[in-house]
Amino acid sequence: MTSSTTAHSPSVEGSNAYRSKIGHLTLDQKISLISGKNFWTTVAIPEAGIPQLKVTDGPIGARGDLANHVPSACFPSGSGIGATWDPQLVAEIAGALAEETKLKGAHVLLGPAINLQRTPIGGRNFECYSEDPHLTAELAVAYVGALQSGGVGACPKHYVGNDTEYQRFLISSNIDDATLHEVYLYPFERVTKETRPWMIMAAYNAVNGIQACSHRALNVDLLKKEWGFDGVIVSDWFAARNTVGNANGGLDLEMPGPSRIWGADLKTAIEKGEVSEAELDNKVGRLLHLMDRSQPHPELQHETGLDKVEHRALIRRAAAEGMVLLKNEGKTLPLDANAVKSIAVIGPNAEIGQIMGGGSAFVNSHPPVHPLEGIRNAFPNADIQHAVGCTNHKFLPSFPKGTIKTESGEEGFWEERFEKDDFSGEPVAAKRVGVGRALLAGVEIDKEAGPEPKSLRLTGHFSPRASGLRELGLFSAGPARLLVDNELVVDNWSDWKPGESFFGFGSDEIRALYTFEAGHRYKITVEYVKSAGAILAGAQFGISTKLEEDAIAHAAGVAAAADRAILVLGSNSDWETEGHDRTDMALPGEQDALAEAVLAANPNTVILMNVGSPVTMPWYEKARTVLVTWFPGEEMGNAIGDVVTGQAEPSGRLPFTWPKRIEDHPCYDTYPGTEDLQMPYSEGRLIGHRWYEKKGVEPIAFFGHGLGYGDASIESVDVMESSKNDIHSTVSVSLKNAADRATRAVVQVYAEPSEKDAGEDTPPRKLVGFRKVDISANGKAVAEIDVLNTSLAEWNPEIQGRVVPSSVSLVAGLSSNDIAK
Ligand code: BGC
Repeated sequence: MTSSTTAHSPSVEGSNAYRSKIGHLTLDQKISLISGKNFWTTVAIPEAGIPQLKVTDGPIGARGDLANHVPSACFPSGSGIGATWDPQLVAEIAGALAEETKLKGAHVLLGPAINLQRTPIGGRNFECYSEDPHLTAELAVAYVGALQSGGVGACPKHYVGNDTEYQRFLISSNIDDATLHEVYLYPFERVTKETRPWMIMAAYNAVNGIQACSHRALNVDLLKKEWGFDGVIVSDWFAARNTVGNANGGLDLEMPGPSRIWGADLKTAIEKGEVSEAELDNKVGRLLHLMDRSQPHPELQHETGLDKVEHRALIRRAAAEGMVLLKNEGKTLPLDANAVKSIAVIGPNAEIGQIMGGGSAFVNSHPPVHPLEGIRNAFPNADIQHAVGCTNHKFLPSFPKGTIKTESGEEGFWEERFEKDDFSGEPVAAKRVGVGRALLAGVEIDKEAGPEPKSLRLTGHFSPRASGLRELGLFSAGPARLLVDNELVVDNWSDWKPGESFFGFGSDEIRALYTFEAGHRYKITVEYVKSAGAILAGAQFGISTKLEEDAIAHAAGVAAAADRAILVLGSNSDWETEGHDRTDMALPGEQDALAEAVLAANPNTVILMNVGSPVTMPWYEKARTVLVTWFPGEEMGNAIGDVVTGQAEPSGRLPFTWPKRIEDHPCYDTYPGTEDLQMPYSEGRLIGHRWYEKKGVEPIAFFGHGLGYGDASIESVDVMESSKNDIHSTVSVSLKNAADRATRAVVQVYAEPSEKDAGEDTPPRKLVGFRKVDISANGKAVAEIDVLNTSLAEWNPEIQGRVVPSSVSLVAGLSSNDIAK
């Protein structure tokens, strides 16, 4: 079955205890409830017995307040999850996330992100599942259903058309009706109707000229009335910008708090009759209904982190399940752990891999297992040599592990927070923190009663491993400076300006040079002051790791001397992050040159792509084996070990079409839109593979592609009409595996339009069902896939709704471009 996850509501669903309080609340109390108290909680009204509700990001872990430094389990990011094509596994992950969310004392987890990967450079592609609405919908239904079964609310986001980070507060996603309903709304429609999410997040952007938070047609008429959404529409953080427009446009909760648009202004609007009290009551009723569902504890709970073996095992399995083997000429993989004598592990993401992307999806993970460590674990008898080859950072990386100590000799910096903005007086809080990042954002329950700190100082003692010139870098949301032995070195203080960092609230990185000598100990001090009224507060700093001039040649030499080379290329969370799109598809730094050199030195090179979105691979034809690891979470290294040794089958399939060049993607000509921030979705329904197939453009690999270690093929396809109401047909696909080892295949069912319906803008085929199947060595298997009417239904302008076309053919394949004949 493709849609096996059904809605489970917690046992308290029927309770009306909070909702029934509405009649006893005053106008002021009701208004106070619908704007947040702080970054993560709503307002409590103790005298009315109404506690605070707490939400947390989301979606790959439950972070809690970042400023608390409490660790959380880090699961694979969206594109890695999309690549699993496995709703059952996603449900398992969401079940674990429900436990994680409770550890943070939160009631709603802000996820899943179900916008679509419309362009290859979208900053949040890594956080979303796929280019495809159906795959996204199936996984989202599984995620939300299981999370809520675990007693934690989900918050599918960002409703809708938030498919770019370019000017996301201001851009208007201009989407025609058919495309909007069949493509971008489809995951939201499915998840709303099938799982009844407790919350949905309204996007920053406008849709066809109307701000998402004010879009009554989408929020009220469609989501609440037509689809029956009975949860809370929460604004994306700071997206609420209009008192009356948002109130009448269907927004229920302004976040974060304290209120900027409602509060006293909403009261005035109600008194003037611009917003009805019934409208307010509807919002309050929804919030109280959410409390009936989530049963918050009367007091906020402290945040804790638990490094659970079971969660690590699940992360490891899920990471491997999502890895996509793009090519494997000469069966370079799997490597025999008992036979391989030496391995060169090379690349900027080898020693420290990228386990997640950047922005609000970031979690303070439990200690991660990086690729080099994982490969060492998997090949205990092999001689493993490492060379970095080149760097790929955008902002300077943190101080290397083991080089920064506090006064008392512990790893990291000593952080002191001060009440005043001039570091005067005794610190209000002090603790040891990790390297390279300081945040003053959010709410900490410990500090509820205490003053909010306004300045922060980090002090650490740096022992460089080698002498020489280094670059030091610092960016911050507010003035900051970095001193070495009390001498000002990086000045982001006297002339602080906003730039690209911290979602546009922080500066650009300011850099300065300093010569260090090995054997000396240097005092590093970073001072930061929160700007008055700032929305975000934080600073990040780093130091260059200077590579030798011949680092690439050296890496090639290490590769040549080994039996096998594993080259770990990729990006990181400064490149792939919320807040901005990438500007091109190239791998950062000199990674392409490194790949060429390593491939020339050792043809038995396995290339691992540690990315969340596609990048250009000019050396692709020369590589025998390319495995995409995505941003796979904290068990990255062990999952790589599992797949590379064949302990686990690489059973991921591409959740998007991987273009050869940026110029080939469907919105290349129209991105990012006009100067007045209108972004036309001119490619219409031809998102992703549909475009490449329709236009005959050859990508690196199509949607749905991925190899296993076996040899699966489709033998026959039978389509049977269904007598069930919501199911159109059942497609039965027989498969065989011609290899001596068991394998796994992802069978995909596509709908193709009849000739008479095939217009210029009609997708040549679209995914309507899929199933992951195990096939034994030299064995056979049958996959039965139900195709739902709702997946086939197309927009009909006359009835302003989606209807099933009268004729459509169903075909099956192993990728969108590998259809069984
Ligand atoms: C993001 C949301 C996130 C929220 C809270 C926003 O910047 O767009 O996805 O849930 O912040 O952190």
